[in-house]
Amino acid sequence: MEVKEFDAIIVGGGLSGLRAALELSKEWSVALISKVVPIRSHSGAAQGGINAALGNHPDGGDDTPEKHAFDTIKGSDYLADQDVVMFMTKEAPKIVVEFESMGAPFSRFDDGKIAQRPFGGAGFPRTCYAADRTGHALLHTLYEQCVRQGVTFFDEYFLIDLVTVDGNVTGVLTLDLNSGELVTFRGPNVILATGGFGWIFKASTNALICTGDGVGAAFRTGVPMQDCEFVQFHPTCLYGSNILMSEGARGEGGLLYNAEGKRFMIEVAPDAKELAPRDIVARAITTEIIEGRGFENAYVNLDLTHLGKEKILERLPGIRDIAIDFAGVDSIETPVPVHAGHHYSMGGIGTKYDGDFCETIINGLWAVGENAAVSVHGANRLGGNSLLETAVFGRYVGRKLLERGLSEPLPEEKITQAEKNFEEMILALFQKWESNTGSMPVKIREAMGETLSKNVFVFRKEGELQQALEDMRSLQKDFEDVQLANITTAENRRYNFGLIRLLELRNLIDIAEVTAFAANWRKESRGAHFRTDYPTRLDDQYLVHSMVVRNNEGELEMQTKPVKLGIFEPKPREY
Ligand code: FUM
Repeated sequence: MEVKEFDAIIVGGGLSGLRAALELSKEWSVALISKVVPIRSHSGAAQGGINAALGNHPDGGDDTPEKHAFDTIKGSDYLADQDVVMFMTKEAPKIVVEFESMGAPFSRFDDGKIAQRPFGGAGFPRTCYAADRTGHALLHTLYEQCVRQGVTFFDEYFLIDLVTVDGNVTGVLTLDLNSGELVTFRGPNVILATGGFGWIFKASTNALICTGDGVGAAFRTGVPMQDCEFVQFHPTCLYGSNILMSEGARGEGGLLYNAEGKRFMIEVAPDAKELAPRDIVARAITTEIIEGRGFENAYVNLDLTHLGKEKILERLPGIRDIAIDFAGVDSIETPVPVHAGHHYSMGGIGTKYDGDFCETIINGLWAVGENAAVSVHGANRLGGNSLLETAVFGRYVGRKLLERGLSEPLPEEKITQAEKNFEEMILALFQKWESNTGSMPVKIREAMGETLSKNVFVFRKEGELQQALEDMRSLQKDFEDVQLANITTAENRRYNFGLIRLLELRNLIDIAEVTAFAANWRKESRGAHFRTDYPTRLDDQYLVHSMVVRNNEGELEMQTKPVKLGIFEPKPREY
């Protein structure tokens, strides 16, 4: 088996992984492994912007990192860890200026300063943007910097498992999609930056590659999954395809109307209206549709027509193109049909209570970006804080590791033996999948998406959540006998998309089960987790992070972790 050795191994070529690589490669040898060419990472799909208290717009002239932290914590329904939020919001202006100095093509105000638009939860312009293609602009900027600095990229390598020895990570086992061979990357520091896992649902704004590969691998190693019940449903997904229609559209003045021509957000959130936090707007839209005031019982209208052609072409050209191509609607002339749909995962790889930010319970293993629960978003993320999180914590982990220095290596024979064991285990699994006679992966994946989208959606309740959990337990049984032909030779594994989908399903199925389990457990409503049978927030019992592990009997088990409070006192949310 081929073994490649580096000081640090980063899995994921989106903004988090690239930013960590840029920092670490100043001093260390770094491998950046990605299942796609990095500039095809899902970070590139982020549209509306990145938050920072720059105060460039007169309406936000007195903005501060403390105000940004307060809005983030209130938006999170007080489940975010306050120390880490404060760190992020203080770093935010520096991170945006750093991007600017790298050449990121931000949109500008007439005075030349970086332009800012309002996003949900702030009430004034704080979100810096590059038209409605901000993620694309930042991703290309960072990728160029990594290439310039000589980061070693391994494109089209699929993370299979983490290799561990006695509670320490020693590397990762991957599948080289081009050769079909297993390749081990060895190194004492592994950073997981594999993005979200939207495809536990039937539809998502996520790219198809967002299948929780790092989350699944960490969970199999014993790392708890944190806060997975908190799933963000973006209020404005395009009817028919679920593609994101940026919150930037409402930030620029877009309005929401039901089929009766009523601007329903005025009643739901009298102050913030269309720019209330996403969980609130998503529930309001879904309520209009459920109660029969939607169009065709399926969508409401996002009206941009009053913004005028010039503004739409300058600030929202990307979503205009998408609406034309995928819904046949030109937003300059006609309102765009939208509904709430899966967008983001607040939960993910559990982080240590008493460690550095992003550190896990496995020595040397770190998690950054959407695959991590750091936790800056708590129960509901504010739009514009996701791009921010990736860059702030990518840089943070890089700096932290360089500061700590390289650890004493473990005995070589132990590492070699562990690598051999993992390789044998996976080759045996390939053989088993080849000789199994049960379901095809696609059947299991479809059933998983169906039950999650039906039973663990915007509004949740006991019977439906129980159904999702039962379905997932039964699908786990089916997965034990899942079959896939022709995967035991490297030649057969070359760009074998059947195998890639199956390896992805191996991760998704665990995450979907954990999501249903955690949503059943949390008998309150908080942020994006809204239970019609427990409609209020219950701080006495549930102001804690959920931490799910699989016990020795193979059952899921709930543990909890305290929320770091102490700066802003939890209060009811009003907008
Ligand atoms: O609506 C948007 O443009 C998405 C931004 C985000 O998720 O932060």
